[in-house]
Amino acid sequence: MGRCEGRVALITGASRGIGRAIARRLAAEGAATVLSASRLGKHGDLDGTLEEAVAEINAAGGRAAAVASDLADEAARADLVARAGEAFGPVDILVNNAAVARMKLPSRASTAERSLMYEVNLNAPIDLALQALPGMRERRAGWILNISSATAVQPALPYRDSKKAALIIGPYGATKAALERYTVALAHEVAEDDVFVNAMAPVAIVLTQSADYVREIARKNPDMVEPVEVMAEAALELCAGRHVGRVVFSRDVIHSAGGKVYSLDGATVLGDAFMQADPETASC
Ligand SMILES: NC(=O)c1ccc[n+]([C@@H]2O[C@H](COP(=O)([O-])OP(=O)(O)OC[C@H]3O[C@@H](n4cnc5c(N)ncnc54)[C@H](OP(=O)(O)O)[C@@H]3O)[C@@H](O)[C@H]2O)c1
Repeated sequence: MGRCEGRVALITGASRGIGRAIARRLAAEGAATVLSASRLGKHGDLDGTLEEAVAEINAAGGRAAAVASDLADEAARADLVARAGEAFGPVDILVNNAAVARMKLPSRASTAERSLMYEVNLNAPIDLALQALPGMRERRAGWILNISSATAVQPALPYRDSKKAALIIGPYGATKAALERYTVALAHEVAEDDVFVNAMAPVAIVLTQSADYVREIARKNPDMVEPVEVMAEAALELCAGRHVGRVVFSRDVIHSAGGKVYSLDGATVLGDAFMQADPETASC
């Protein structure tokens, strides 16, 4: 029996990157997975589509379906959890992973840029949680995991990279700081109904395709690059365990649980909480 057997999981931002890896890991543990992104097929020059991510899980013997929804659009996302429930049944596990980042000095971020980030990174996760919560509370079983970022906190001096690099991440980091605060309050409200709400972030960089701006930082600081499997393993623990209102780094979750890091198909032990990635080859 996998740790998510009999559960239905909705993962946003699952066409590529961390979300896709979490979807694969939860599916390997028996969850029926509903993967979401803004569209089904290819766009821009990014590799990986929602359709391919779903096909990958189904080909590996898992259960997956796709639901496209633009999380920047309040009306479009209003029925996402209900639509996700049509595939395999009501959503037991919600992973709010999708996010957008606009690198701007705090004094230069436009209203449009800030609004987009607050919609996708903060309001959408809250809306989806509120859509999923009534069913979770009624069934007295639910898990909500919000993916955050170490950038929620201003980096300590001296800056590891340039001052500019430390500052232009600020407006995005502010959305994650708000998400973390909301996560803890919501977690304490609903824990008595056996709904487990937490936030988790990589302590470092996960080299996903759209994170080109961090590749240079990763080359300079290879110890900062975190394998995507570490994020997926920690997400599994927070989506199957009984953790309440934690705001944690992925490696800490694995370390404190005394766990190993498995391959995304769950078949092989790859390492432990201290596992490193090669910045030249890491990508997902
Ligand atoms: N990578 C890192 O180093 C890092 C570090 C700290 C925190 N994080 C956090 O980890 C999470 C995943 O990061 P990532 O690097 O894997 O992201 P990514 O590669 O940029 O992928 C983003 C995902 O979000 C989806 N998405 C973006 N805008 C959307 C919208 N308006 N509506 C619906 N879906 C949308 C994308 O779907 P489409 O295919 O439709 O574009 C894609 O599936 C984010 O919450 C991020 O803040 C990442």
